[in-house]
Amino acid sequence: MLAIVSTILTTSPPSIGSRPATVTLHLRDNRAVRVRPLMRTDREQLVEGFRHLSEASRYQRFLSPTAQLSGSQLTYLTNIDHIDHFAWGVESTDGTGIAIARYVRTGPDTAEAAFTINDAFHGCGLGWRMLQALAMVAAGHGISRFEMTMLADNASMAHLAGKAGAVFEQPDGGTIRAEVDLLPAIWSDLPRAEELLRLASAAARAE
Ligand SMILES: CC(C)(COP(=O)(O)OP(=O)(O)OC[C@H]1O[C@@H](n2cnc3c(N)ncnc32)[C@H](O)[C@@H]1OP(=O)(O)O)[C@@H](O)C(=O)NCCC(=O)NCCS
Repeated sequence: MLAIVSTILTTSPPSIGSRPATVTLHLRDNRAVRVRPLMRTDREQLVEGFRHLSEASRYQRFLSPTAQLSGSQLTYLTNIDHIDHFAWGVESTDGTGIAIARYVRTGPDTAEAAFTINDAFHGCGLGWRMLQALAMVAAGHGISRFEMTMLADNASMAHLAGKAGAVFEQPDGGTIRAEVDLLPAIWSDLPRAEELLRLASAAARAE
């Protein structure tokens, strides 16, 4: 299964046309969302999406109070090569950015992963779908383990990581580290997996 993932990731042709292609997924409450690789040109969308996040979600994502993203943070978050640094962006059907799932390679076979979902879309299964889709792409690029840091009271993120088989450690009172082995079982029931892989591949090959 991993071999198929790698093959699709490395052989799909680059997409043609200026509008980024998306894959539509349906959440537990039946709302449709559109998923596509985040691109270097998505700086404005990132600012806009961040603006609509609650203070609590910003805090959970950046592990400290964060009123806005600095210029250097925005540069870092959009400096994406789609292989060592990859992110899925999710938008609602009206085009509003609602979620980002990102990994950044930290070693030959490890990456730090992080998730940000607009509060209005929490608890509908989007976090799990994003974790599945992100793990699949990372595994196809030779990453075998995700590391994630979360605040100790982030029960939903801890639950998601646990669902993926995480091993946890608590380096200090405030945060928890989770390590997840990226096994194909994680994304085995991800809908439209092949189409998502083709989008990820096209993004990498368009670089
Ligand atoms: C953490 C986050 C990504 C989760 O996304 P989500 O779309 O709400 O996740 P899902 O709906 O797929 O799943 C949430 C799971 O947590 C469970 N959950 C929610 N609250 C919980 C709690 N208090 N205790 C235990 N489990 C809980 C839900 O039941 C659900 O599990 P299930 O799908 O097995 O029923 C999202 O809340 C978020 O973006 N938070 C702000 C940023 C953040 O915390 N990022 C993480 C930093 S790595």
